[in-house]
Amino acid sequence: MSDKKIIAVVGATGAQGGGLVRAILADKTGPFTARAITRNTSSDKAKALAAMGVEVVAGDADDEGSIAKAFQGAYGAFCVTAFWEHFSPEREIAQATAMAKAAKAAGVQHAIWSTLEDSRRFIPLSDDRMPTLHGKWKVPHFDAKGVADQAFRDAGVPTTFLLTSFYWDNLIYFGMGPRKSEDGSWGFVLPMGDRKLPGIAVEDIGRSAYGIFKAGKEFIGKTVGIAGEHLSGAEMAAQLSTALGKDVRHQAVPPAVYRTFGFPGADDLGNMFQFNHDFADDFQRARSVEVSRRLNPSMQTFSEWLAQNKQKIPLE
Ligand SMILES: NC(=O)c1ccc[n+]([C@@H]2O[C@H](COP(=O)([O-])OP(=O)(O)OC[C@H]3O[C@@H](n4cnc5c(N)ncnc54)[C@H](OP(=O)(O)O)[C@@H]3O)[C@@H](O)[C@H]2O)c1
Repeated sequence: MSDKKIIAVVGATGAQGGGLVRAILADKTGPFTARAITRNTSSDKAKALAAMGVEVVAGDADDEGSIAKAFQGAYGAFCVTAFWEHFSPEREIAQATAMAKAAKAAGVQHAIWSTLEDSRRFIPLSDDRMPTLHGKWKVPHFDAKGVADQAFRDAGVPTTFLLTSFYWDNLIYFGMGPRKSEDGSWGFVLPMGDRKLPGIAVEDIGRSAYGIFKAGKEFIGKTVGIAGEHLSGAEMAAQLSTALGKDVRHQAVPPAVYRTFGFPGADDLGNMFQFNHDFADDFQRARSVEVSRRLNPSMQTFSEWLAQNKQKIPLE
């Protein structure tokens, strides 16, 4: 039997958790083995993980008992929620709380909670610079994750709070790539004015989480922010122009305009960009590129990510 320590990975069939599973697999002589947790062990993605030799077990964050079972015998647990599946901050907090309690019940020695700031610590509900959403949130998908930090503390699980950054992969999968303008140029919408936004290749989130597990006790109880680079919209547009061979121009639409775009979650994302913009110094300071590189020496820059991924960016 293997003497490797098990890292149970929620979201193993997804972007963040998948990156962690691949990082564990890539380090063949490393101390850890991955256990993938999924709601559906017979999905194509789950089967692909099993085919790579990964242990795949059933677990659903809406059902604490199933997660506690899936965490049984694990040294570590990577916990992530999928806000954009349901758009409910309350459900996200309930899922995170279930994972925290399950980690405690299973005796997990090191959990990583993939979190974000509760923006209301910076901009209280009474501050009308941005609208309050659903009566109690400013940036629902940030605020809920920040609230859920306390669930891990309350459960008494040794936890690292991992502050993630804007995925550059949003340009491929989240409809945030350049759009053709009437004058033949390509508009890259990023409501950040001239401020820099910490960004990351999503694969590097999992690799960074792996670095945190490998570091042992060093990051337990700490909040660690990660980013590949901090770039302005103009800098990203310039790099997109070079990589894509197109005239890509930054469109710094105001967050108030972005909120009216009408797609599901546009108000949440408009507030997010305004928060990232108005508190850019705090937001960047919490995500040191230098610390991130120490955790993950292969951390990609935007141009390195573009070199690998530019063909996947839809141009329409
Ligand atoms: N896009 C960005 O720029 C960005 C930046 C920072 C943070 N985030 C946050 O990242 C999170 C999403 O992470 P991701 O991109 O890695 O997700 P993803 O690629 O969309 O995958 C979602 C994963 O979550 C799992 N999952 C969903 N509901 C579950 C449940 N009830 N129980 C157990 N597993 C469940 C899914 O597994 P199965 O389907 O196999 O069960 C899947 O593996 C969101 O909360 C978002 O706010 C996004």
